Amino acid sequence: MELTLSVIKADVGGYVGHSSSHPDVIQKAKEKLEHAQGKGLLIDHHVTVCGDDLQLIMTHQHGEDSEQIHKLAWDTFVECTNVAKSLKLHGAGQDLLADAFAGNVKGMGPGTAEMQFSERQAETIVIFMADKTASGAWNLPLYKIFADPFNTIGLVIASNMHSGFTFEVHDVKEHKKISFNAPEEIYDMLVFLGAPGRYAVKAVYHKESGEIAAVSSTQRLSLMAGRYIGKDDPVCIIRSQGKFPAVGEILEPFASPHIVEGWMRGSHHGPLMPVAVRESNPCRFDGPPRVVAAGFQLANGKLVGPRDLFDDPAFDEARHQANIMADFLRRMGPFEPHRLPLEEMEYTTMPEVAKKLAPRFQDI
Ligand code: 13P
Ligand code: 13P
Ligand code: MG
Ligand code: MG
Repeated sequence: MELTLSVIKADVGGYVGHSSSHPDVIQKAKEKLEHAQGKGLLIDHHVTVCGDDLQLIMTHQHGEDSEQIHKLAWDTFVECTNVAKSLKLHGAGQDLLADAFAGNVKGMGPGTAEMQFSERQAETIVIFMADKTASGAWNLPLYKIFADPFNTIGLVIASNMHSGFTFEVHDVKEHKKISFNAPEEIYDMLVFLGAPGRYAVKAVYHKESGEIAAVSSTQRLSLMAGRYIGKDDPVCIIRSQGKFPAVGEILEPFASPHIVEGWMRGSHHGPLMPVAVRESNPCRFDGPPRVVAAGFQLANGKLVGPRDLFDDPAFDEARHQANIMADFLRRMGPFEPHRLPLEEMEYTTMPEVAKKLAPRFQDI
């Protein structure tokens, strides 16, 4: 069965501050998608959150970039914003950059990851959702999952994965894309993936069959808006098992937290902490950044699940390590590399302060 899985997300208001989502906002989103499913637009849906980001997970048969599906998501975010405004939540409507829907939510603020595929006998899906970080945060885990045999033993010992995967990488500033084959071109590819502020993995394909394996949201809110709005708080869908990595291979990179940009005022480096959905409430210095993982089996488009995959004591040590990394970085206060370099900061007083002090600067 040909199916489209769409994950469309937005921050429509935080409760309290930017730390979490209000139940009334979530309830409104559920009602909207329930109604759309009743009318036959969706096969199934699941509404969830990561911190202050509202996540609409939808299955349907309208393909990627469907105007009907995007309009449903946009209208849902608008109605949820109205609920957020009535409760005077923080940053109500934060990610809705346009006044009215114009055919596709891309470029309008919400993040999207969509894939169309034909459902397998057993279709296992993992959806990652992050808060307090930027698109590009998936580069390191996607590399490990699909190209690193020390993470994914299937690359070595499973004959249907042994030929490797193809990575589609986007230059988010110049709006260009390029594909790399792994393992043959990993050294060339890592030159780019190692700079996640500029180059982000958009999709991964099974090399032999060309089938879609993963897709991520690569929207950069600050580049779209030309100013600081909030972080991208990206999502990523990965197909699992069979010719794709096993669930455990997909989760394994998060057992050793990596450092991403985001955290307080979107202007700091911090560890990405894997947590259960109920623990995705970034409070300490508005963080540290969080990632949740929802696992589903698809049955004729029905979302069987989710299993809250990081709700597992095996990730306790990663959370502990992330807290130690957070302590270590916080000690640096306003100094780089905890604080982002000037050109990467989402907002800064540098121009004002420099202007005020300009007369006091003397030639050396
Ligand atoms: P506000 O202006 O939205 O309060 O921005 C600061 C902030 O919320 C950082 O947490
Ligand atoms: P969000 O992008 O999650 O809204 O966070 C904004 C922020 O400034 C946190 O300090
Ligand atoms: Mg927010
Ligand atoms: Mg957020």
